[in-house]
Amino acid sequence: MLSGKKILLGVTGGIAAYKTTYLVRLLVKAGAEVRVVLSPSARDFVTPLSLSTLSKNPVYWEYYDKESESGEWHNHVEMGLWPDLLVLAPLTANSLAKIAQGQSDNFLMAVYLSVKCPVFFAPAMDLDMYKHPATQNNISVLKSFGHHFIPAENGELASGLSGEGRMAEPETILQHINAYLFEQAPLAGKKILITAGPTYEAIDPVRFIGNRSSGKMGMALAEAAAQKGAQVTLVLGPSALNSTNNAISIIRVESTLEMLAAAEDNFSQADWAIFSAAVADYRPKNPAQQKIKKVIGAEEMRLDLIQNPDILKTLAAEKRTDQVVIGFALETENALANAQKKLHTKNCDWIVLNSPDKNERGFGHDTNEVYLIGKNQEQIALSLKLKKELAHEILDILHQHHN
Ligand code: C5P
Repeated sequence: MLSGKKILLGVTGGIAAYKTTYLVRLLVKAGAEVRVVLSPSARDFVTPLSLSTLSKNPVYWEYYDKESESGEWHNHVEMGLWPDLLVLAPLTANSLAKIAQGQSDNFLMAVYLSVKCPVFFAPAMDLDMYKHPATQNNISVLKSFGHHFIPAENGELASGLSGEGRMAEPETILQHINAYLFEQAPLAGKKILITAGPTYEAIDPVRFIGNRSSGKMGMALAEAAAQKGAQVTLVLGPSALNSTNNAISIIRVESTLEMLAAAEDNFSQADWAIFSAAVADYRPKNPAQQKIKKVIGAEEMRLDLIQNPDILKTLAAEKRTDQVVIGFALETENALANAQKKLHTKNCDWIVLNSPDKNERGFGHDTNEVYLIGKNQEQIALSLKLKKELAHEILDILHQHHN
């Protein structure tokens, strides 16, 4: 859930600050981009060097760099706009009180007042301070702001006393964040099957019939779906593309028959199936077992082709009413009418109509422009933009219609 998420960690001056090095490690390992801001007293408990090394980003605690000649200004408003989530851990009784009051006497407090994202806070203090009505009142105030409270745990405290007040363990903080992101993710719990890329149809062991599809659109859809919380199975034809997102499991195939077999294995488990692969319509009928030799004197050679199965049509014919099937189409004439015909003959819920290969559109390009055509007469134009953005828009539209 944390892959690609921007997390700002605000650390205040309590002994539990030493645990934030491990928290940064866990967040980075989970795929998040992490930046750290310290309250001035947090530096007594944890070094900026440890946190900048682990987060791979500079750590700030002042409005400007007093030690450098340039006196570089750290913009708290910009910093506040950066994160997807702000995590205040540990949050001391003092900083908790300041936040509840809206005080801004240090850089971290100013950043807090500037953020527009959800805020999580993990208090840490001695048991009497934690129990005190002033603290409990301040916690209620922060909750009333809509902030997410990660309760302190019961256990041995730095004072030697035992009770409630220990900062939640880094693993627990991570669980809270993950659970929240999971709830927020619009496609959480959805299983999505995607076919992408070209297919290669063997002529002999070294030659094939293929096409110029890059698989970029399918990969963009897989990445976007995973970011939105879906579990993705990507059946990918020969392509240099890869993904490190562990919500995407990639099955690499070469030919149409292999793609069909892999898609068939995964179709019944899928809630949505998106067929974006550029599949070869024909394959050599009798691929040679050995490399075909040039015949001296023979000016021509014939290659017999046989029709490939239509993966989309075959699987969509078995579609259950709870499944949504999306096909792709590329038409050079009567595009809308032909795409609509395809929608019905292939039993799709939606067709994504691609523009023919031209400037910045189609095969190999990073950008595209498409029409979404739905079986209930929907026609939605999506203007030229990055395939990555287009993927998010397509999934958002599908989500609106099939929630
Ligand atoms: O009929 P046409 O090839 O234009 O249809 C395109 C759509 O059908 C795409 O979604 C493509 O992935 C799918 N298709 C398929 N198997 C084929 C041919 C096309 O899944 N053999």
